Amino acid sequence: MDLLIKNGTIVTPKDTFKADIGVKDGKIVAIASNITEKAQEVVDASGKYVMPGGIDAHTHMEMPFMGTTTVDDFEYGTIAAAFGGVTTILDFAIQPKDKTFLETISLWRGKADPKVVVDYGIHVAVTNLTEDLVKEIPKVLEAGVSSFKLFMPYRKEGLMSDDGRIYRMLEESRRLGFLVQLHAENNSVLELLIERYVSLGKLSAEYHAKSRPNFVEGEAVHRGLALAAAAGGNLYIVHMSTKEGVAELSRMKKLYSNLYGETCPHYLILTDEKYLSPKGRRYIMSPPLRGKADNEALWEGLANGTLSTVATDHCTFTDAQKDLGKDNFTKVPNGVPGTETMIPILYSEGVSKNRISLNKLVEVVSYNPAKLFGLYPRKGTLNVGSDADIVVFDPDFEMELSQENLHSRIDYSIYEGVKVKGMPIHVFVRGKPVVYNREFVGKKGTGKFVPRGKYQPLN
Ligand code: URP
Ligand code: ZN
Ligand code: ZN
Repeated sequence: MDLLIKNGTIVTPKDTFKADIGVKDGKIVAIASNITEKAQEVVDASGKYVMPGGIDAHTHMEMPFMGTTTVDDFEYGTIAAAFGGVTTILDFAIQPKDKTFLETISLWRGKADPKVVVDYGIHVAVTNLTEDLVKEIPKVLEAGVSSFKLFMPYRKEGLMSDDGRIYRMLEESRRLGFLVQLHAENNSVLELLIERYVSLGKLSAEYHAKSRPNFVEGEAVHRGLALAAAAGGNLYIVHMSTKEGVAELSRMKKLYSNLYGETCPHYLILTDEKYLSPKGRRYIMSPPLRGKADNEALWEGLANGTLSTVATDHCTFTDAQKDLGKDNFTKVPNGVPGTETMIPILYSEGVSKNRISLNKLVEVVSYNPAKLFGLYPRKGTLNVGSDADIVVFDPDFEMELSQENLHSRIDYSIYEGVKVKGMPIHVFVRGKPVVYNREFVGKKGTGKFVPRGKYQPLN
């Protein structure tokens, strides 16, 4: 064996049990109590949890957006991911208007392949759907990409798809077995409200949130789900932020299959009060931060299975980049960091505060994304035959989150001062250590593109 992790407590979505894990050639080859076979490297995980690597199904590395480019490239972004126990990221390749889906994937792989330190997959973010591109989708699936994001908002940024295009992709998702990801916000209402605030000279960060009130998401979630139900398609609503959205998803899930929701750590623990601080623009993302009742509804949605995943929407802009909108919230590049802090926050704020179980944590960051995005059983689980993407998690490791002890290239943390207890200490990707004793020991370019299979429904 190459690696033996001994005496740990293994956590899966269903079970928590003491066992050793043996690894050879990047795969898990044994899970049993007291494995005695010799191994080149033995890790003692006494008193630690041993969990499948996290899958951050929503990242934006080196993404051109709103006149600038996210500062975390595939190297820095995946180093940050690894420190947070994320062993696979799924990044959005934004389709340039004149490129096909396959060309878009090549473009993104050209950026990612030489730099990634953990494994990665790609979603296509569709900006210009034509019938010719619809015909290309079977080849895209063969290339290992089985999810496509469509944006209801961002008309002025050139990302928006209208309802007809969304419906068309949902029809195809049913026929071909892929997943449509939807950014659900009502574009015309938010544009109207933005224009109203701008004309009144209300340009500070708080008006970002005020121009996108809860119903802007709630209505769009309803419409997206209704279109999916009519088309019989497979729909996953990304970065859900409101109690209205969760309520609508819960209602529709009782009536129709293949409907899912994702939320992000910032929507679980931060509120829109952040926009009132002098650096309020750091927190500008879309949808915006909400109120405490929304935080609680999202936790509840995770606990009861209405929401299926947590991902981060890791989309990093420095203070200097955020300052593009110093005097006008509409010019602030939208996005916040998150991939390094997702699992620690879910553990400290979710598991330790009894909002979700540890098994649920593993379900929403590993197992469910692996199924939905066609990675299972290669990833998202600790099973014989699976990739040895393994996190050794110390529940007693305490840390105060701060830009200084995190690894993104960004020059601040949106969680500055938040105390966490419970951190990944060793992180293995296909059996190789990338983080060991909280030191980076990986190598640029050693992560791999993971071709994904079709969408697999959750029960
Ligand atoms: O504000 C956000 N969410 N920025 C990233 C782009 C997106 O919509 O996911
Ligand atoms: Zn989005
Ligand atoms: Zn995003």
